[in-house]
Amino acid sequence: MIVLGIETSCDETGIALYSGEQGLVAHRLHSQVATHAVYGGVVPELASRDHVRRVVPLVQDCLAEAGLAAADIDGIAYARGPGLAGALLVGGSIADGLGWALDCPVLGVHHMEAHLLAPMLEPNPPAFPFLALLVSGGHTLLVEVADIGRYRVLGESLDDAAGEAFDKTAKLLGLPYPGGPQLEALARDGDPDRFRFPRPMTDRPGLDFSFSGLKTAVLKAVREADADDATHAAIARAFQDAVVDTFAIKVRRALEQTGVGHLVVAGGVGANQALRDRLHQVAESRGAVMACPPLAFCTDNGAMIAYAGYRRLLAGERETGPVDIRPRWPM
Ligand code: KG4
Ligand code: ZN
Repeated sequence: MIVLGIETSCDETGIALYSGEQGLVAHRLHSQVATHAVYGGVVPELASRDHVRRVVPLVQDCLAEAGLAAADIDGIAYARGPGLAGALLVGGSIADGLGWALDCPVLGVHHMEAHLLAPMLEPNPPAFPFLALLVSGGHTLLVEVADIGRYRVLGESLDDAAGEAFDKTAKLLGLPYPGGPQLEALARDGDPDRFRFPRPMTDRPGLDFSFSGLKTAVLKAVREADADDATHAAIARAFQDAVVDTFAIKVRRALEQTGVGHLVVAGGVGANQALRDRLHQVAESRGAVMACPPLAFCTDNGAMIAYAGYRRLLAGERETGPVDIRPRWPM
C-alpha cells in the first residue's frame, strides 16, 4: 500500500509517500518562514495562499523521486487538525480532489498523533506502550500511548505551549521569528550561573505545565539587565535550563507513574538538543529507552502524516463524507 501524506496545518507544506513494503520513499518540505518572518509570526491568510501554490508541485516532486505514477497511490492522508482553518482546508480539499480523481480512499489524521508516531519511521521503532512528550508551537502534552488510537493524556500546559514560550522569549531577546532554534543557538554561549528562572509547577504533584510565568520572569530580567550580547545569551541559557529542568522533572514522574519502558519525544521543541540530552539521561536512569524522530521529522512534515494515515487506512478507516477539518481537536 502506498500512501500520500499532505501536511498543511500551519506554515510548512509537507508532502510524503509512505510504502507498506519499503517505508518512506519520498518526502518534500516547503517552509514559509521567510514569508511570515517580516510580520513576526504566522499570517493565516498568507499561509493558506502559499499552501495552494505548493502542494501539487511537491506531490509531483515526490512521485518523481520515488519513481512512481499518480495511479500508484493507494490512499491519501491529510492533516485534519488541529491547526489554522484555512491552511487545513487547502490540504483537505486537495486530498479530497485527488482521491476522487485517483479513485482511492482519503483520510484526515490528527496532527499531534502524527507527531507522536513520527519515531516509528525509524529503523528501531519504540514498542507500545510508551510515554510521549509532545512539545510543539501549539501543544505541550504528556501522553501514555497504549497503541495507535489508544491515548491517555497525563498532563498538558495550562497556558502557553512550550514552543510558544520559546518563541515569545526569543522575541523579548530581539531574535527573529521563529525563535526556538535561534534561542537554542544563543543559549549555547550563555553563562549558566548569571540568572535563575522558576521551574513552574514542579513543587506540587501532577503532570501539568505552565509557561506563562516563566515568560514574565524573562521579561523582568530583560528590563532590569544590560542589553548586551553576553546578558542576552545568559538569559537565553537560564530560560532554556528552566524549561529543560521542568520537562526532566515531569517526565521522570510520568515514567515512574506509568512504568513504561519507552519514552518518545516529538514536536518542534523536541529538536532542541539540550532537551534531548537531558531527557535521554532521565530515561536511562529509569531503565527506559528514549526514541526521537530525526530532526527533520520533529518539526512539521508530510512523512508523519503519511505514516499515521498508512496505519489507519491499513486498519480500514475511511472518510465517509466530504472534507472535514477540525482546527481545534483534542487528542
Ligand atoms: O511541531 P512544530 O514544527 O509546529 C507545530 O505544530 O507547532 O513546532 C514548532 C515550534 C516553534 O515554536 C519553534 O520555535 C519550536 O518548535 N522549535 C524549537 C526548536 N526548533 C523548533 N524550540 C526550541 N529549540 C529548538 N531547537
Ligand atoms: Zn506540529
